[in-house]
Amino acid sequence: MKTANIGLLGFGNVGGGTYKILTDNKKLIENRIGVSPKIVKILQRNRNKKRLVDANPNLLTEDPDDIINNPDIDIVVEMLGGIEPATSFMLQSMKHKKHVVSANKAAIAANYELLMSTAKENNVEFLFEASVAGGIPVLTAMTNALEANNFVEIMGILNGTTNYILTKMTEEGLPYEEVLKDAQAKGFAEADPTADVEGIDAANKLSILMALAFNKYVAPSDIPTTGISKITSEDIKAASEQNKKIKLIGSASVKNGKFDYSVKPVLLDASHPLAGVSNEFNAVYITGDMVGELMFYGKGAGPLPTGSAVCGDILSIMKKYK
Ligand code: HSE
Repeated sequence: MKTANIGLLGFGNVGGGTYKILTDNKKLIENRIGVSPKIVKILQRNRNKKRLVDANPNLLTEDPDDIINNPDIDIVVEMLGGIEPATSFMLQSMKHKKHVVSANKAAIAANYELLMSTAKENNVEFLFEASVAGGIPVLTAMTNALEANNFVEIMGILNGTTNYILTKMTEEGLPYEEVLKDAQAKGFAEADPTADVEGIDAANKLSILMALAFNKYVAPSDIPTTGISKITSEDIKAASEQNKKIKLIGSASVKNGKFDYSVKPVLLDASHPLAGVSNEFNAVYITGDMVGELMFYGKGAGPLPTGSAVCGDILSIMKKYK
């Protein structure tokens, strides 16, 4: 059986989830794909941090060159988070003719065009399903099964932390600050939760969705963005009294030739499909000119849901080995 040699850049939540899936489901993957996934090296920057899983210590390195410049590695999986050094590591890997899989929405949204063109120039795959809505396979659906459609509108609950906060404020009447602390403790929130609560994380994901759906790249900083930090218990109560729910929605649409996009809190009728999406769950509601309306729902964060999307991309590259 052929082997795919894989290097992991990062061994935090997503790296740990990816390692666990490739290890626990190795036999299943081999049976399905006919190629064996082999983790060759793992970049772990902080050895003292508590880990989801313990990796074989012989695989660990603190030197990114052991992965980026390693002639034995064919697939580099970037799960570091943050724009740099992640973007440089991905570009260097591509230039060394390695396929790249990434979960890093901030780096991809910031450098989308450069990453896509570098992958093309070097004739390598660049896949990033896990970067938008965690375990929900929305990018793969848009670029495969839905590819014959003109996309008319995309609306998404793209950030688990803010959806969790709004849900708890609505259903349990809890104050914003208290629920934010709870979301941080549960591990949904970014290292700096400002990116979550001010809508920046959702804008990164919307930028990637728009680039794929409308073939139009808009930098996250150019997406009009309002977060939820100013939503009060009174706002939530007033919405409930009108049988509505406040949700942080990333949306983009092309209507009558006009391209509109934003991230902002929206008052949804309780009957809207996105109004029923609670806690840390994400959902993406897509309208295509031929398929009509579709909704994708699932876990938008967490080691195993996000790792599942990362592994889907790895397997899709491995399928070409045969
Ligand atoms: N902080 C992000 C969220 C993690 O809450 O959705 C997943 O991208």
